[in-house]
Amino acid sequence: MKDRKSVKILLIGIGGYGINYLKELTEKDLGAVVIEGVCEVMPEVYEQFPVLKEKNIPVFQTPEEFYKKHMADLAVVSTPIHLHYSQIKTCLSKGSNVLCEKPVCTSVKGAKELIELERETGHFVAVGYQLNYSRDVLQMKKDILSGLFGRPVQMKALHAMKRGSAYYKRNSWAGKIMVNDCGVHDSPFNNACAHQFQVMTFLLGSKMDEAAMLSKVTGELYRANPGIENYDTASVKGETADGVPIYYYTTHNLERKSFGPVSEYRFELGTIYYGKDFGDGPVNEYVAVMNNGTSISYGRISKGERMQKLYDAIESTRDRNHPVCTISCAIPHLEAVEELSMLPIVPVSEGMIKWFGDEDDRYCCIKNAEEVLEQCYLNQLMPKESGAGWSK
Ligand SMILES: NC(=O)c1ccc[n+]([C@@H]2O[C@H](COP(=O)([O-])OP(=O)(O)OC[C@H]3O[C@@H](n4cnc5c(N)ncnc54)[C@H](O)[C@@H]3O)[C@@H](O)[C@H]2O)c1
Repeated sequence: MKDRKSVKILLIGIGGYGINYLKELTEKDLGAVVIEGVCEVMPEVYEQFPVLKEKNIPVFQTPEEFYKKHMADLAVVSTPIHLHYSQIKTCLSKGSNVLCEKPVCTSVKGAKELIELERETGHFVAVGYQLNYSRDVLQMKKDILSGLFGRPVQMKALHAMKRGSAYYKRNSWAGKIMVNDCGVHDSPFNNACAHQFQVMTFLLGSKMDEAAMLSKVTGELYRANPGIENYDTASVKGETADGVPIYYYTTHNLERKSFGPVSEYRFELGTIYYGKDFGDGPVNEYVAVMNNGTSISYGRISKGERMQKLYDAIESTRDRNHPVCTISCAIPHLEAVEELSMLPIVPVSEGMIKWFGDEDDRYCCIKNAEEVLEQCYLNQLMPKESGAGWSK
């Protein structure tokens, strides 16, 4: 059996999404993996996470404090997005590889500086867009790169998730445009529903660890919930540098829990669908239907672990290579976030809004959000073109 080198891990931010990493590492036997420390600033952290005491895991306020007496082979960053850049810099310069939650930082300029620092330090930064690590997606990308589907023609996706007051109140940056002079641009497009857009750019990348660059990004941005700063509904139209149009539709202003994901990736020789109803209800797997009538089901491929990104980052640390989702793979999405941030945000007229829920979690939905976004998705339209009536 292969000798498994021990890997020391630093977890930065465990109180939000980062709990998933803590659980994976403490509840499963990953073999020769040690949590060397945790950085977390929330009060009563030991009470909140008894496993820290049980397993003698020391807690620090900052990575700098951790690195005074400790080292880590891999640092996992799951903190608010405006902290990623400086925390990644610290970890790389102190000799750690990094797995950072998406988005990798808040600007394309910052992302390029981090690539430079990867080169200088010889350590990697992997970004936590989990679809990029999913084995079915990777096989699909290999098939795309092998030419199985011919040239890409058009990519589109829709993914919406209901989010209410509890989501926006959970921290000080949710729904914000700026935090401490830093453009966080938090929105469904940049955060909760980022994945389905990013994966389209990933799939069109010219190498496994690259995404397709975008030459154009435009769209329509709407704010239904007047309590937040940024937009909570977006229709996005992009184009890759090779001229492939990309359409994406997302919102938090839904009445039901979620809508989608659905996607349709059209190529010269066939179309890949996710969430398509072929007659027996939606198929929540990627299925390619070729022009010659044959089909390929990617559902046959086991996706890997739920937190496969963590396993891949650990293996890459051992093997001294780089996980598939590089900073380059994160840049087109980041670029789209930046481009969209220059567009106006249109407030949705009160007549189109419905509030529901209770004091603990109150939701703001756009009455016809589902119909409009579905029509836009089916016909590659923007809400105005579809007669949404959101901005009267
Ligand atoms: N991949 C996914 O599906 C997914 C899902 C949700 C969130 N995320 C990403 O995870 C990251 C965190 O999001 P969240 O929703 O958990 O945010 P959050 O603000 O709710 O939680 C962040 C955690 O970091 C801690 N923290 C804040 N400042 C810190 C500091 N200086 N040092 C150490 N810890 C600090 C907070 O106390 C909190 O526990 C974001 O990048 C987000 O986009 C990814």
